[in-house]
Amino acid sequence: MTEPAPLFLRALRREPVERPPVWMMRQAGRYLPEFREVRKRMGFLELCKTPDQACEVTLQPIRRYGMDAAIIFSDILIPCEPMGMEVVFDDKGPHLLNPVRTRTDVDRLVIPSAAETVPFLGEALRLTRAALPASVPLIGFCGAPWTLAAYMVEGGGSKSYGQIKRLMYGAPEVYQALIDRLVPTLVDYLRFQVAAGAQVLQIFESWGGFLSPRDFRAFALEPIRQVVAGVRDLGVPVIVYMNGVGRVLEDLAGLGADAVGIDWRTDLGEAFDRVGSRVALQGNLDPCRLYGPPESIRQEVRRLHAEVAGRPGHIFNLGHGILPDVPTDHAGAFIAAVQELAHVHA
Ligand code: CP3
Repeated sequence: MTEPAPLFLRALRREPVERPPVWMMRQAGRYLPEFREVRKRMGFLELCKTPDQACEVTLQPIRRYGMDAAIIFSDILIPCEPMGMEVVFDDKGPHLLNPVRTRTDVDRLVIPSAAETVPFLGEALRLTRAALPASVPLIGFCGAPWTLAAYMVEGGGSKSYGQIKRLMYGAPEVYQALIDRLVPTLVDYLRFQVAAGAQVLQIFESWGGFLSPRDFRAFALEPIRQVVAGVRDLGVPVIVYMNGVGRVLEDLAGLGADAVGIDWRTDLGEAFDRVGSRVALQGNLDPCRLYGPPESIRQEVRRLHAEVAGRPGHIFNLGHGILPDVPTDHAGAFIAAVQELAHVHA
């Protein structure tokens, strides 16, 4: 007998499933003691660039909880270094030491070959794919062009995104020139990950919600469409996640991607009403829900499942990344509660 296709891939194709698949954004991270143990020995970027250790931490949450998908341990800022940015990570997050502010800064940026500049990522994907059970697909990822442009212009995270907006509104042709370097970089970066073993791709528009819906459509949407179009021929499912997706949900559902990842500020049932006949939907438990006791997490999982009301194409996830101070048994209660939904259908 042939094995059925993995649950995650079937849900992405909006096929009927015994229960929704589940994984967590940032599932390999600091809330796990075994991750903190590895991080004592090496810095974050060094860990991303050390394939056997990146493989090890990718597998840690799968071993502990048995999620239905693994996401390769890396970061959305990895392609920025070969483009010509100096990237460092400290306790406050990422910093890009030479932010892009002018036409000259953009002209200096390289469109790198992933195979030549990030071979460690290919090796980490190969090792991880070989170590994972066939039932657990491996996700490769990148940042969306606007979110990466924001990091490159701001020089790090930001409260207002004033610098990138200054560039967008004050010198739109320079903003566009930056996007024109990011899009081919990201297409090559994703294609490289698929060649190395990624079976699903996710594009993270983490800060798109800082734009008005109109400006999101004017400045950020088309570049995502170009990245999706650049990998479409590979036949690999693509998920576009956006934090603050609210008003632009229909726009994201119309990009040609297979699934849209949503944050918790939109009700899941409403999202299914609006776009669930076109794309699968991934999400959307508020990450802070995992601070509540396990029983309240189980209840919320069952409530969200009821809200989907049997419509195909739901992938359980958090509305954003898991927070570093979530107790491990609370994370486990979330995963187990979704796995137990199979009994409801049996
Ligand atoms: O398990 C996984 O999800 C895979 C690994 C992964 C990381 N970053 C590891 C990481 C993924 C998919 C990312 C994506 C990423 N990186 C995004 C998009 C997703 C999102 O959360 O919106 C963004 C915006 C970044 C940029 C970034 N990297 C930030 C803002 C930070 C600091 C955040 C913090 O909580 O301190 C990072 C660092 C980072 N990336 C950590 C991890 C596990 C923590 C660093 C550490 O271990 O010291």
